[in-house]
Amino acid sequence: MAKPVTEWVNVTGDISIIARESGEVWFRTLSGTKKLVDPFATPMTGVGSAGSTVGLLDGAINLGFARIEQRLARPDFTLAGYIVALVGAYHTSVDTPRNLLRAAKRFEQLGRPEVAAYLEERAREETGHDRLALKDLRALGVPAERLVANFIPVGIKPLCKRFDDLCVQDYPIGCIGYSYCLERIAALKQKSDVERVRTLCPDGVDATRFLRSHSALGSEVSHVEETIAFVATLPANDRITVVQETYQSALIMAEGYNHELLKSEAEILEELQQALGEPLPYRQVPSRQVPSHSEEHGAQQPA
Ligand SMILES: [Fe+2]
Ligand SMILES: [Fe+2]
Repeated sequence: MAKPVTEWVNVTGDISIIARESGEVWFRTLSGTKKLVDPFATPMTGVGSAGSTVGLLDGAINLGFARIEQRLARPDFTLAGYIVALVGAYHTSVDTPRNLLRAAKRFEQLGRPEVAAYLEERAREETGHDRLALKDLRALGVPAERLVANFIPVGIKPLCKRFDDLCVQDYPIGCIGYSYCLERIAALKQKSDVERVRTLCPDGVDATRFLRSHSALGSEVSHVEETIAFVATLPANDRITVVQETYQSALIMAEGYNHELLKSEAEILEELQQALGEPLPYRQVPSRQVPSHSEEHGAQQPA
């Protein structure tokens, strides 16, 4: 019988994530002389498995978010905040197909047609998602094109830049880690998150197209599963880079989302008004409290 797979990746300074095929995951701090006898002190070289790969990837996201866990914002959940989240969703999806195809072309040049084919498929799957966000904004009576042209939420900018940068690298395997991070967080959103947004929207308005598509109700779950299966087949060096980039993306995402969530309603309305050159046209709806921590990664930020 084959030995169960164990994978490990050093993600930051002296913290490594170790994951077993069985699903067990733990974080290990490498320190001092222990390195001499620590079997996890040198990079892994073996094969991957789906069970250990998902442990590493999700461990990287948890670690990234844990860095700001103590100071995560818990704002009121408002329609203005949701509009900003839709603008963020637009910006994190508008360049995705082009970026993925660019990375795919590079892997074609590098003689890695299997990576190119995976990225091309992802580019196809993500095509048109920016338009879902635009439709949602229009449904809310917001001049969508003008708003997204004039406004990128400050907390979203570094995330967009990270993906742009990753996709133009000479060896752009890290873009898979970035995509996994965004899709995994999106896939945490449940029907209750969608319902909560619906209660904020004016009667008869459906502004949840992007959110539904990027939640457990839409395609994100299968995108996540496909990525785990694919990453598990990659050589060890690639898996290491993908996990490290998942961690870096989680850090940027956590900081960026927190930045946006810390804004007051007045600040949000002011930003939107400046971008539009006029006040938001929608009818104000009373704000509601975000009820739980697990939902705040999701509902306020549809991207
Ligand atoms: Fe998408
Ligand atoms: Fe997706």
